[in-house]
Amino acid sequence: MKKLLKIQNLTKIYSMGSIFSRIKITAVEDVSFTVNEPEIFTLAGESGCGKTTTAKIILGFEEQTSGVILYKDEPMNKLRLKDRTKTLREIQAVFQNPFSTFNPLRTVDSYFYETLINLRIVSTKKEAQKEISQKLQAVGLSFEEFTQRYPSEFSGGQLQRLSIARALLTDPSLIIADEPVSMVDASLRMSIVNLFKDLKEKYGVSVIYITHDLTTAYYISDRMAIMFRGNIVEMGPAEEVLTNPKHPYTCLLRESVPEPDPEKEWTTRVYLAESEQEEYLRTGCKFVARCPSAMEKCRKFNPPYFEVNGTDVKCFLYE
Ligand SMILES: Nc1ncnc2c1ncn2[C@@H]1O[C@H](COP(=O)(O)OP(=O)(O)OP(=O)(O)O)[C@@H](O)[C@H]1O
Ligand code: SF4
Ligand SMILES: [Mg+2]
Repeated sequence: MKKLLKIQNLTKIYSMGSIFSRIKITAVEDVSFTVNEPEIFTLAGESGCGKTTTAKIILGFEEQTSGVILYKDEPMNKLRLKDRTKTLREIQAVFQNPFSTFNPLRTVDSYFYETLINLRIVSTKKEAQKEISQKLQAVGLSFEEFTQRYPSEFSGGQLQRLSIARALLTDPSLIIADEPVSMVDASLRMSIVNLFKDLKEKYGVSVIYITHDLTTAYYISDRMAIMFRGNIVEMGPAEEVLTNPKHPYTCLLRESVPEPDPEKEWTTRVYLAESEQEEYLRTGCKFVARCPSAMEKCRKFNPPYFEVNGTDVKCFLYE
């Protein structure tokens, strides 16, 4: 399989506060992964573990503190402006809230025409209509139900389909979807995430799917990474990670439901005691305070990755 995106040792440290009391927050630490062409790669993990920060850096909305992003073997930060613009067109985003993607005072179709004309993808209205019809069809909507309508005339699920259709206008190779269905009615979630699978299969689009929801991740992902406090702690084929978890954190998530069942909520949320939230370890494994298998060395040393059954696990248990 061809590599589309390669992330190497990505770290993002936010500095906050005044010059007298600087606080540093390590949002992403030493994260490496690849996204093949085409595949659905999921980033999952509890709130604040660094998923969105990783996405923002890939999309060029934030700059990394260190690390390299290679897109089709080219380092993104070394691309000339023209090539960078072209690359960023090939990488599109779909966000959590479809209602904030579209201005309530503008018709939704105006965004589509604007994108096609501004980016010079088409030159006539007829061409634009043809292009839009194709993209709407790809997300299960028709041109007739779309024209001259305002965002309030669509449901959340329809608007999220429209956000995906809009992302398709530039014929992207990669879509980064950050919690795309968490604000959509639970009964519609599966049908929308399945669209990503269709896009991969029919159009060869790769997807980075960011989610708390392990059920949808289980059904659509080829490979996945579980993040914990800025690090990837386990990464491999989605089925292997979710049905045969190895890292104690993934095991804890896995225990939260007996079987992956689309009707049940299965999330990455694990609640911490106040005292654990306070604990910030400078050395050692970040999971030590919650780990039922913690050993003496886990407090002193940062575990590297060990390969087990085709997955990479950041844990001394697999040394
Ligand atoms: N602009 C910022 N300035 C300072 N800290 C930030 C900023 N953006 C994110 N952070 C911090 O970085 C960490 C990672 O945040 P991020 O939004 O990437 O998490 P996430 O995994 O997307 O969480 P969620 O599931 O809640 O969306 C958090 O501790 C967050 O508070
Ligand atoms: S390295 Fe140690 S503390 Fe960390 S997850 Fe593994 S066993 Fe638990
Ligand atoms: Mg987020």
